[in-house]
Amino acid sequence: MMDRAALRLILLGVFLISASLGVKKKQNVDIYSFYINSTVTSRYATTVITSRVANTLNESQEIQFEVKIPKNAFISKFRMTIEGKTYDGVVKEKEEAQQQYNQAVSRGQSAGLVKSVGRTLEDFKTSVTVAAFSKVTFELTYEELLKRRLGKYELLINAQPMQPVADFKMDVHIQEKPGISFLEVKGDLSTGDLANAIKTTRADKDAWVTFYPTRDQQTKCKSCGENGLNGDMLVTYDVNRQNPNGEIMVSKGYFVHYFAPSNVPRISKNVVFIIDQSGSMSGQKIKQTRLALLRILSDLDEDDHFGLITFDSEVNLWKRELLKATEENLKNAKSFVKEIRDRGATDINAAVLAGVDMIKRHPREGTASILILLTDGDPTTGETNIEKIMANVKEAIGTKFPLYCLGFGYDVNFDFLIKMSLENSGVARRIYEDSDADLQLQGFYEEVAVPLLTDIQLKYPGGSNLTKTSFSLYFNGSEIVVSGQITDNSVESFTTEVIAVSKGSNVTYQDNTMTKDTSDVPPENEDFMQRLWAHLTVKQLLDRQVLLKGQEKEDEKKESLKLSLKYQFVTPLTSMVVTKPQEGDVEVANKPKEGERGGESTADYYDSDLSHYPVQHSLQAAKIIAVDDFDLYDHPLPTYMYDHPLPTYLYDHPLPTYAFPTMHTTTPPAVQVHSNRFLLPVVGQSKPLCFDVPVPHKLRLLQDSASEFSMNGESLSEQNGFHQIAIHYKTNHHLIISTKSISYHNGQDNVEILWGQELTQHNTDGVSLVVLENEMNVTMGNIGVVIISHKKDGVMFLWPAIWEYPKDVNLTGVLGKSDISYVKTNGSQTPTLKMKDKEVKTYLETVSDYRLHSTPTRECWLVPFQAVMEAEISDFTVTQL
Ligand SMILES: *[C@@H]1O[C@H](CO)[C@@H](O)[C@H](O)[C@H]1NC(C)=O
Ligand SMILES: *[C@@H]1O[C@H](CO)[C@@H](O)[C@H](O)[C@H]1NC(C)=O
Ligand SMILES: *[C@@H]1O[C@H](CO)[C@@H](O)[C@H](O)[C@H]1NC(C)=O
Ligand SMILES: *[C@@H]1O[C@H](CO)[C@@H](O)[C@H](O)[C@H]1NC(C)=O
Ligand SMILES: *[C@@H]1O[C@H](CO)[C@@H](O)[C@H](O)[C@H]1NC(C)=O
Ligand SMILES: *[C@@H]1O[C@H](CO)[C@@H](O)[C@H](O)[C@H]1NC(C)=O
Ligand SMILES: *[C@@H]1O[C@H](CO)[C@@H](O)[C@H](O)[C@H]1NC(C)=O
Ligand SMILES: *[C@@H]1O[C@H](CO)[C@@H](O)[C@H](O)[C@H]1NC(C)=O
Repeated sequence: MMDRAALRLILLGVFLISASLGVKKKQNVDIYSFYINSTVTSRYATTVITSRVANTLNESQEIQFEVKIPKNAFISKFRMTIEGKTYDGVVKEKEEAQQQYNQAVSRGQSAGLVKSVGRTLEDFKTSVTVAAFSKVTFELTYEELLKRRLGKYELLINAQPMQPVADFKMDVHIQEKPGISFLEVKGDLSTGDLANAIKTTRADKDAWVTFYPTRDQQTKCKSCGENGLNGDMLVTYDVNRQNPNGEIMVSKGYFVHYFAPSNVPRISKNVVFIIDQSGSMSGQKIKQTRLALLRILSDLDEDDHFGLITFDSEVNLWKRELLKATEENLKNAKSFVKEIRDRGATDINAAVLAGVDMIKRHPREGTASILILLTDGDPTTGETNIEKIMANVKEAIGTKFPLYCLGFGYDVNFDFLIKMSLENSGVARRIYEDSDADLQLQGFYEEVAVPLLTDIQLKYPGGSNLTKTSFSLYFNGSEIVVSGQITDNSVESFTTEVIAVSKGSNVTYQDNTMTKDTSDVPPENEDFMQRLWAHLTVKQLLDRQVLLKGQEKEDEKKESLKLSLKYQFVTPLTSMVVTKPQEGDVEVANKPKEGERGGESTADYYDSDLSHYPVQHSLQAAKIIAVDDFDLYDHPLPTYMYDHPLPTYLYDHPLPTYAFPTMHTTTPPAVQVHSNRFLLPVVGQSKPLCFDVPVPHKLRLLQDSASEFSMNGESLSEQNGFHQIAIHYKTNHHLIISTKSISYHNGQDNVEILWGQELTQHNTDGVSLVVLENEMNVTMGNIGVVIISHKKDGVMFLWPAIWEYPKDVNLTGVLGKSDISYVKTNGSQTPTLKMKDKEVKTYLETVSDYRLHSTPTRECWLVPFQAVMEAEISDFTVTQL
C-alpha cells in the first residue's frame, strides 16, 4: 500500500480527474446550490460562479470544484469558504507562485491547474478536504472584454455542475448605454425543454437573461443526463450605433471609446491567397481548403481583385497579376482551385514574397490590400530560417498592407505565424483540424471581407496611457476599442478624433463628450472601466512582447506584470496561489497555453481575437509500478513491419507497370541504397508480401481520420528502422518517441520519459501509455501499437507494430493496407504474382522481423511498393512528424 501523499502525487501525474474518482463520491456530495452571475457593462463582462456543496458523508472527504471559462477571460478572484473561514486565492508573479507550488509538491501535496479544453474554453479545477457533514462554498470570478465579430458580441457561459442541483441559477445582466439592438440566446442549454427555463427581459439599455431550470429539467435535457446540466449558453447581441463617431464612456478618470461606423461605403480589396499544398496538407485538410476557397471566391465582390498562389517546394501562380473578380475570372480560378493537390515540401518564404510582389505591382490607390497565408507546417525548403523569412517579408511588405496567417492544425509553428503576422499588422489564427475546418476558413475570410476604412488613427487630446490607437484596416462587423486615462479630471469635456481613409478620401470623425456625463453604471460596478483599461492594456502589452527584444521587452513585461498583480488577473505572467485549510496545502492556477505542441514555444503570449496564450507548462512525470510484461505473440497483428539488412535495393520510380527495373535475373537488382522493408501478411497465403522504402524518409505509417489518429516515422540514412516516431491523436495528444526519450503532450501537460528507466505508465481518457525497458505500448482510442526499441551494432532504432485497430474504417499509411491478395502464377524466368489483375514480378526474399525482440528471419515475396500500395512513395511521405 502506498501512503496517501504518494498516491496523490501519482494521481496528479497521470492526470486522473474527477471522472474516475467521482463515481463513489457523488452519492455523498450534494451540490445544493450553483449560481452563475454574469454582468456585462459596456462589453466588459464579469462572471461569478458560486457553488455550494455539502459533504453528506460521516467522514471527511475531498470535494472538487471544476468549471470551464472562456479562454479570452482572465480569472480575477477565487475564494473558498469552509466552516465560516474564507481562503482567498492570491495572484503572484509566476516564478514566485511556482516556487510555492514546488515546495508543496515536494511535500507530496497536489496542485490545481487550469487547462485548455477545446477551442474556446479553459478548465479550472480544484478540490478541498471537507469535514464530515460540513459545507464548502467555492466562488470563482473571471473577466473578459467581449469582442465584436461579424456584427455581434458573444457571451459564452458553460454550465456543468456535475450533478443535478436543487437551486441552480444563471443570471445575465447586460447594460449598454447606446441601447441593445438585438439579443439572442443560443447554445445547447437553450434547446428542447430547457428553453422553457430561460427568460429574457429587455428594457431600453438593459437586458436580463435568467435560466432557472428545475432539478427535473436538468436531467431531461438533450445534452444532460444523470450528471445534470452539461452545455453552453451563448448570449449574442449588438448595440445601437446612432453616433457615427462611436460611443465614448467616461468614468472615474478613465475612458473607453468604441468605434464601429457602418454607414461607410465598402472599399474594394486586393486579396491574395497563398495556399500551402505541401504533402502534409494531404487528405481532409486539402479537401477542406479547396471547399473553403471555392466558397470564398463566390463571395468576392466584382470590383475586388484577387490572386491565387499555391506552394510546396515550388511556387505556382494561378495568374501573374491580380485579376478582377469577374464571372469569367472566378470560373477559371475555381477550376484552378479544384486542381489543388498536396505534394512536396513547404517554401513559405518564396510563396509569401511572391504574394507581396503581386500586390505591390497592382495599383492600390483607394483600395485595401490583404495577404492571406494558409499553411500547416514549418518552412522546410528554400529559406527555412524563420528569422530570415520574417525579415524578408517585413521588408517586402514595408507596413503597406496586413498579412494574415492561418495555421492549419498543430504541426504548424504557430509562434512563427504569430510573430510574422503581428510584424505586418495582421493577426494569426489557428484553424482547428476538424470537420468544420472549411467553415473556420470561410469565417475568417468573412471577418475581413468588407474593409470600410484604412490607416485609422485615433487621437485623444487630454488622454494618456492609451491602448493601441493606430490600425491599418477596419472591417465591417468589427469594432475598434481604445481605452485610456484622462489626464486632467477637472476639464469639462473630452475630445476624440479619428482620422482615416475611406474609399480614397480622407475622413475625420470628431466628437466631444462631457466628462461629468458619467454613465449610468451602478455603484458596485463603478471601477469596471479602470479594469477594462487594465485588461486591454495587459493584453496588448503581452501581445507586443512577441515582437520586442532586450530592454524594451523587459520594460513592457514589467509593466504588464505590475498591472496583472494590481488587478489580480491570472495572465501568462502570473499565477493564482490558493492556500487550503489543510496545513501547507497549496494549489496554483496558471493561464494555460493554447493547444500548442509544448516545449518549443518562444512567444510568451498571444491573443489573436481567438485568444491564444502560449505559456510553458510545468513538467510532471509519473511513475507507477507493476505492469504485466507484453506478449506480442498473443496478438494477431494486421500488419507486420520488418527491416531489411543492409544494403538493399532501390526501385526507380515511377514504375507504371509495377515492374522491377531488371527482369531477367532471379535476384532483384542490387543498388547501394539502404531501405526499410515492410511486410504485409496476406489472408490465405503462407508467404507474406514485402516491399522496400528507401531511406532516409519521413513516412505516414498509419492514419485513421475517423478517430483522428496518425503515426509517422522518420528514418535516417544508413540506419535501420526509425529514429523517431510521432503519434498524434485528436487535436491535443502528441507523443514523440525517439531513440533517446519519449515525450508526451496532451495540450496541457508535458511528460518526459527516458528509455531504460523503471516501468512508467500514463492513463488519461482514451490514452494509455506503458513504457517498459525497451518497448512502449500505446493505446489511443481504438488503436493500439507497440514501439520496440532495438539495438544493433551499438545503434538504437525503433519499430512499430499494430496490435489493435478498428475494423471497417479506412486506415491509410504504409501500415494501413489490409485488403491485399495475390495469386502465384507460373512465371517463366522470375516468379510472378497476380495482384489486382496485374502481373507483378517478384523475388523470394528474407527479412528480419524487428517487431519482436528475438528478431526472427522470415521469407517473403518482395514486390515494388507501387504494386502493393497503388500509389507512389511520395504519397506517403510527410514533411513533418
Ligand atoms: C448577481 O449579481 C448582482 C449584482 O452583484 C446581484 O444583485 C444579484 O443578486 C446576483 N444574483 C445572484 C443569483 O447571485
Ligand atoms: C460512518 O457510518 C458507517 C455506517 O453508516 C459506519 O460503519 C462508520 O463507522 C461510520 N464512520 C465514522 C467515521 O463514523
Ligand atoms: C455593414 O454591415 C451592416 C450590418 O451589420 C450592413 O447593414 C451594411 O450594409 C454593411 N456595410 C457594407 C458596406 O457592406
Ligand atoms: C500612466 O501610467 C503610469 C504608470 O503606470 C503612471 O505612473 C501614470 O500616473 C499614469 N498616467 C496617468 C495620467 O495616470
Ligand atoms: C489624405 O491625407 C494625407 C496626409 O494628410 C494626404 O497626403 C493625402 O493626399 C490625402 N488624401 C486625399 C485623398 O485627400
Ligand atoms: C498494451 O496494453 C493494453 C492495455 O494496457 C493491453 O490490453 C495490450 O495487450 C497491450 N499490448 C501488448 C502488445 O502488450
Ligand atoms: C472508405 O473510403 C471509400 C473510398 O474512399 C469510401 O467509399 C468508403 O465509404 C470509406 N469507408 C469508410 C468506413 O469510411
Ligand atoms: C502452374 O503450373 C502448375 C504445374 O506446373 C499447375 O498445376 C498450376 O495450375 C499452374 N498455375 C497457374 C496459376 O497457372
